Amino acid sequence: MNNPFIKQLSIPYQRGAHAPFSLEAKMALKVCLKHSFDQSSPIIIFIVFCFFSCLGIANEQPQPGKTKTQAAIASAHPLATEAGYRILKEGGNAFDAAVAVAASLAVVEPYSSGLGGGGFFLLHRARDRHEVMLDARETAPHNIKEDDYLDELGRARLGATREGGTAVGIPGLAAGLVELSQKFGRLSLKETLRPAIKLAREGFLVDNRYAKMAQFSQAHLKKNTHTAAIFWAEGQASKPGWRLKQPQLALTLERLANQGFNGFYTGFVAQALINTVNQNGGHWQASDLENYKVIARIPLHIQFHGARITTAPLPSAGGIALSQALHLLEPFSLKGAKDEISAHLIIEALRRAFRDRSQLGDPDQQPPPPVQALLETSYLKGLGESISAEKATPSHELAALPVSKNDAYNTTHFSIIDSAGNRVGATMSINFTFGSGLVAQDTGILLNNEIDDFTLRPEFANGYQLKGGLANAPLPGRRPLSSMTPTFVDDSRGVLILGAPGGSRIVSMVLLAIIEHLAHPEVNLLNVVSMPRYHHQFSPDKVEVEPTGFSPEWLAALRAKAHDIKTNSRQWGNMQMVFKAHSDGTAQAQSDPRGQDMGWY
Ligand code: GLY
Repeated sequence: MNNPFIKQLSIPYQRGAHAPFSLEAKMALKVCLKHSFDQSSPIIIFIVFCFFSCLGIANEQPQPGKTKTQAAIASAHPLATEAGYRILKEGGNAFDAAVAVAASLAVVEPYSSGLGGGGFFLLHRARDRHEVMLDARETAPHNIKEDDYLDELGRARLGATREGGTAVGIPGLAAGLVELSQKFGRLSLKETLRPAIKLAREGFLVDNRYAKMAQFSQAHLKKNTHTAAIFWAEGQASKPGWRLKQPQLALTLERLANQGFNGFYTGFVAQALINTVNQNGGHWQASDLENYKVIARIPLHIQFHGARITTAPLPSAGGIALSQALHLLEPFSLKGAKDEISAHLIIEALRRAFRDRSQLGDPDQQPPPPVQALLETSYLKGLGESISAEKATPSHELAALPVSKNDAYNTTHFSIIDSAGNRVGATMSINFTFGSGLVAQDTGILLNNEIDDFTLRPEFANGYQLKGGLANAPLPGRRPLSSMTPTFVDDSRGVLILGAPGGSRIVSMVLLAIIEHLAHPEVNLLNVVSMPRYHHQFSPDKVEVEPTGFSPEWLAALRAKAHDIKTNSRQWGNMQMVFKAHSDGTAQAQSDPRGQDMGWY
């Protein structure tokens, strides 16, 4: 290996005792119900959904080729999608609809995202083509203490980043909704939060997916009285068709609607958050909440095969990995993501892109993480020249920065485009299933466990088996590194908005979808969203593939190039995409069929 980029990267890791903790196998179950449908048919589909919900059959099949309209919404739950369409019909724009969808997902998909968590909102405003990512990621509290997470021998304290008050980051979603509404919306928060308030107060019938998630998480839910009362309800929650009512969350949403930022980050709600976190081992103070800020970040832009890709900057590591992979693949003519010659190149690009993740962290630290250096053309040219068309490069020959396997089974994504061309790609999370399992006193707010996305020590993997570097250490006020990658793809045909939950696999999911979308002249969202997926992330040095969709010949061709292939027992991902054509402005939405199976993946 003569390439100068081989084995060149190094990072000054501190050494310490090693006691990684792994995600329980049970955490490997993610339930997201996803739905998409055109603006023309929400009421019918809503009625059909309610009917099937009662029967315990949780969703519809995707329906490509339905009547196209000028606006489209794809989200993980039909009631959230319906809320977004209602707001569009009431005169709201895509940003107003995004507030309604995000708040409704907080009610109907509580195990994935919510007011107790955070997220990223990638925006495009049509009138001036302004693009920004609202960073509503959680932050570490000012008094975060290393001793809470490491014992006297420097070993990780099991559970401290996942359960109880020490696991919880200062929530950002509520502030994100206020910012989105005030800076970009047409309607008031009172109007856009109305559907979510109604869903919380009147309740909704839980689907098969919710029932399974509650069943699976019951031990976690039962640890906290408030949480158990709301989300487990003495076992009723494990039965599809049970009505989940959240009157306290309705009141909290009303406070947010009436008082904006102060309705959440000061007063009754703030005090309840602080009391709950601190009674459960955390160290929050009022200023942590009062000083929370949504940050407007400049998105990353990449040209790839004639398309303009817009994606998430730090504190998402996902957009940087996606950008690096696309730069590395730009010189190649790819026949689509499924083609085995292309697949080899895509895997090699992913391998290289993931090598650099451990240098990344909160962009506001000094010195900031070396994003520019990692995206510099000369650096990527050298890295690209190390790719052999014939053979896989073993990761250990490439560099010495291990980044381990990452599965994420919660988080949620939605995509919206309105008739004017305003766009929202939003990915939101409370981290693991039902987050930390803490509900803040009488607020109905389920709190995240996003502190686990920090790197306690470079040699410790987090719950998703991801390792990182000191740039992602849990320091006061810092935002933990994320993999969430909301993305826009603009080409001569139109704009595609996409994203997915799935931890580090978000990057490969979005990459494969972009390549597949651009490789075919016809737009076929169902083909793109349902194509079989594979993934590589440098370490472990394996190509993970989904259990179906790959022929023996395909697998043999990859193995002949020395790829170590591991067939996963489950499919993964829950992609939500919309597309709007330049030619006539028609829009279509498509949800991932994987979210419409038995609800496990
Ligand atoms: N909590 C998962 C992520 O942000 O990547």
